[in-house]
Amino acid sequence: MCACCLLLLLLLLLAWGPGAAGAPSAIIAQTLAPCYSADLQPASGRLISAVSCTVLLAVPPLNASAVVFWEYKNGPHEEIILKYYLNKPVNTAASYKNRTKFNETDFSLQMVLQRGDSGTYRFRTESQETDWFQLEVIEPLPAPEIVGNSSVKAGGSIKLVCNIPEGKADSYWWKKNGELLLGSDHFQFVRNNTLHIIEATMNDSGYYACVVRNKVSQNETSFLLRVQNAANMVLPVMMACVIVGSLIGVLVWCRRRGRFRHCVRRWRA
Ligand SMILES: *[C@@H]1O[C@H](CO)[C@@H](O)[C@H](O)[C@H]1NC(C)=O
Ligand SMILES: *[C@@H]1O[C@H](CO)[C@@H](O)[C@H](O)[C@H]1NC(C)=O
Ligand SMILES: *[C@@H]1O[C@H](CO)[C@@H](O)[C@H](O)[C@H]1NC(C)=O
Ligand SMILES: *[C@@H]1O[C@H](CO)[C@@H](O)[C@H](O)[C@H]1NC(C)=O
Ligand SMILES: *[C@@H]1O[C@H](CO)[C@@H](O)[C@H](O)[C@H]1NC(C)=O
Ligand SMILES: *[C@@H]1O[C@H](CO)[C@@H](O)[C@H](O)[C@H]1NC(C)=O
Repeated sequence: MCACCLLLLLLLLLAWGPGAAGAPSAIIAQTLAPCYSADLQPASGRLISAVSCTVLLAVPPLNASAVVFWEYKNGPHEEIILKYYLNKPVNTAASYKNRTKFNETDFSLQMVLQRGDSGTYRFRTESQETDWFQLEVIEPLPAPEIVGNSSVKAGGSIKLVCNIPEGKADSYWWKKNGELLLGSDHFQFVRNNTLHIIEATMNDSGYYACVVRNKVSQNETSFLLRVQNAANMVLPVMMACVIVGSLIGVLVWCRRRGRFRHCVRRWRA
């Protein structure tokens, strides 16, 4: 029973120990405004942010030290972002020089993000270091392109494909005249990025927008679809037939009555 208690105590200490030591060694990071894509909430351990936004990496108080470091690691690639001997000029690596700001009082680091900054970051003194902080840097999506026939006849099916010139969307959806389209027998979504409109009618004419989203952005493009009623073609043809038919009818009537010349003269007048 007591061995059990001891074991429990040991486990508790083990669980508590690194937890208590872990809390102050955690970096707190935050995307700074203005950044129209990423979440601005401070986070511990892991943060998702966007290219060209600025992140602030703040460190907990650590033991005093004559020199401190900010380090980057991504797989086998390791780099010292900066090295600072207290009260000496900050020594920043060339690839970070024009886009980082180091605060010599609280040792925080501000960085304008580039593609390729995804990876882990930590702060280190001579005797202590923080946990590695994981940063994921994602590019906002460009406006998608909609490929399809913009002027089609009623009755057939229509295919609109939404392509992203660069990057990858986590989700796609469609709107018609600003309203979300739901899947049905009439509107079918194929392979995430394709809208099929089955047996299109003139009612399907309108502005179709494809919306794309990833973890840091949402973008959209709209497309004007015109569905022409088949009757638009039939009506003029029918009218032409009726007119020609009645002309012939009048001519025949005139001829029967033997007043052909008279009729023609009256027409010319
Ligand atoms: C920093 O300089 C590099 C070229 O050395 C450039 O590509 C990058 O856009 C610059 N970053 C900022 C934030 O000015
Ligand atoms: C550095 O951090 C301190 C304490 O957080 C703050 O008072 C000061 O304004 C910061 N300095 C700069 C240049 O941001
Ligand atoms: C959509 O992408 C275009 C570039 O294709 C960009 O100029 C625009 O800012 C983006 N819009 C949003 C809301 O991200
Ligand atoms: C678009 O569809 C119409 C009929 O639905 C067809 O006549 C036309 O050739 C199509 N245009 C293209 C570029 O496919
Ligand atoms: C559609 O989504 C699935 C998973 O949801 C993904 O594997 C596939 O690549 C996506 N297709 C396109 C065209 O984006
Ligand atoms: C066409 O759309 C209107 C409203 O948008 C609706 O009232 C009407 O029933 C639709 N007609 C057909 C044939 O679907």
